[in-house]
Amino acid sequence: MNAPQSSHKPPLTPPTYRIAPSILSADFAKLGEEVRDVISAGADWIHFDVMDNHYVPNLTFGPMICQALKPHAKTASGVGVPIDVHLMVQPVDALAAAFAVAGADLISFHPDASGHVHRSVQAIKGQGVKAGLVFNPAQPLDVLDWVIDDLDLILIMSVNPGFGGQSFIDSALRKIEAVRRRINACGKDIRLEVDGGIKTDNIARVAAAGADTFVAGSAIFGKPDYASVIQAMRAALANA
Ligand code: DX5
Ligand code: ZN
Repeated sequence: MNAPQSSHKPPLTPPTYRIAPSILSADFAKLGEEVRDVISAGADWIHFDVMDNHYVPNLTFGPMICQALKPHAKTASGVGVPIDVHLMVQPVDALAAAFAVAGADLISFHPDASGHVHRSVQAIKGQGVKAGLVFNPAQPLDVLDWVIDDLDLILIMSVNPGFGGQSFIDSALRKIEAVRRRINACGKDIRLEVDGGIKTDNIARVAAAGADTFVAGSAIFGKPDYASVIQAMRAALANA
């Protein structure tokens, strides 16, 4: 008789954690320098929060700023650092296309902001960019039943979108666990990213729930020494 199967399968490969500082909390008067500084401090990705004063109440930056920052998104030795564009805009498709041209490496959008989620995902991938879906705290995961095989990234919001510096919403942990089960069941290489309220003192709990990629805005840019925050996050992850 076969041994009973565990309902919580381990990840197919051990996680390689990524830390994605959100430049929403950077000094906008010197964005290029901030991107270079946070990369030399150890950032793996640059998280780029696009807000349209419609889907969310805030207003940030568009594809021209992404294009201007692209040459700065590389290590001192010239290796490119991915620009992770998080669209909080409605509608999605025209801006997603513009960000693909502007040098985005990953583009994520909120499924409730697109009239045709599958089409939006295919359009992003058709431009050679990785595609992700973003889930707000109160939003169900049902759409993943139909599109998970096409995704490169799933982003779980642990705050309501629109502002940096908010507190982590604990129900996100259960949602991360649920997404991790879905990713393991489909067997694809899909990043599980978490966005909002991530700090050095909660990042290990979030990793234990199944996340492998961590957005952090105010936790990093709110401190004078970016490298010490990123190192403290990596140390916490090593013990997760
Ligand atoms: C919120 C943004 C986040 C924000 C996170 O809508 O999507 O990326 O920058 O900021 P912190 O890390 O300060 O919660
Ligand atoms: Zn974000």
